[in-house]
Amino acid sequence: MAAQVWVARFPDFPFRPLALSRLHSAGVHSYWCLMGTLRLGVNLDHVATLRQARYAAMPASKNAEPDPLVAASLCERAGASGITAHLRADRRHMQDRDLERLRANIMTKLNLEMGNTPEIIDFALLLQPDEVCLVPEQREEITTEGGLDLLRHERELRPTVKRLNAAGIRVSLFIDPAPDQVEMAKQLEADIVELHTGALANAFTEKVEQQELERLRAAAIGAANFGLQVNAGHGINYRNISLIRQIPHLVELNIGHSIISRAIFVGIETAVSEMLALMKNYPG
Ligand code: PXP
Repeated sequence: MAAQVWVARFPDFPFRPLALSRLHSAGVHSYWCLMGTLRLGVNLDHVATLRQARYAAMPASKNAEPDPLVAASLCERAGASGITAHLRADRRHMQDRDLERLRANIMTKLNLEMGNTPEIIDFALLLQPDEVCLVPEQREEITTEGGLDLLRHERELRPTVKRLNAAGIRVSLFIDPAPDQVEMAKQLEADIVELHTGALANAFTEKVEQQELERLRAAAIGAANFGLQVNAGHGINYRNISLIRQIPHLVELNIGHSIISRAIFVGIETAVSEMLALMKNYPG
């Protein structure tokens, strides 16, 4: 069966980043027949942020809304492949109970974003999310502001990656798109790198935008060559998704702010469906 017919019959055939990277190395850059749909993980922290704005003192109240679990079910119904939630040390949005309810009830996969601290690691080992994404965490930041510096924190990260892996949890490292960070992710035996797309999203000029895109493209190719799954996240919205699509080897995007913002006006299922439509026919 011709490859394009085969792929047309099985449109959800999972992408194999390594295989694609081999095609790249062989100089093959147009394989339209392998086009697929990027997977979407929806970050629901802002749903919890809204609930906490009113119900921080009584998050388990029968009046506490909006409920991240209801949001998760609607995202899944709209086609999201996973649910992402960040349990921060200061519990400013997601609470332990939110994560426990998500773990027990979602149908797709749970990606827990977290800092590398003993308290949160113990929580993750009990919770058993499908994936953990390790992120830097500073109390005063509004959101995660930069990638995790793997070179600086190699010593503390190595045992954490080992413990999570031993518990059957896939480990993703949220990094800036730099070659030395990618290489260290490989050395630390992570399964996934999530490339920080914030600098691209916030670029003020086209020149900077192109520079950031090149950095992301190079990091994605490097990571795929190492056999790492390549995800991306931070600041991705309905406009800059067209740039994100130009990064090769991506498997999954984690998107929060823009989807939850749009959901206020069109509803969360529509917001997710609209984003998924923009992610279709990803050239790889
Ligand atoms: N990925 C990671 C690792 C993050 O920390 C965040 C922000 O919580 C996101 C993705 C989602 O970013 P945004 O809310 O800008 O879509």
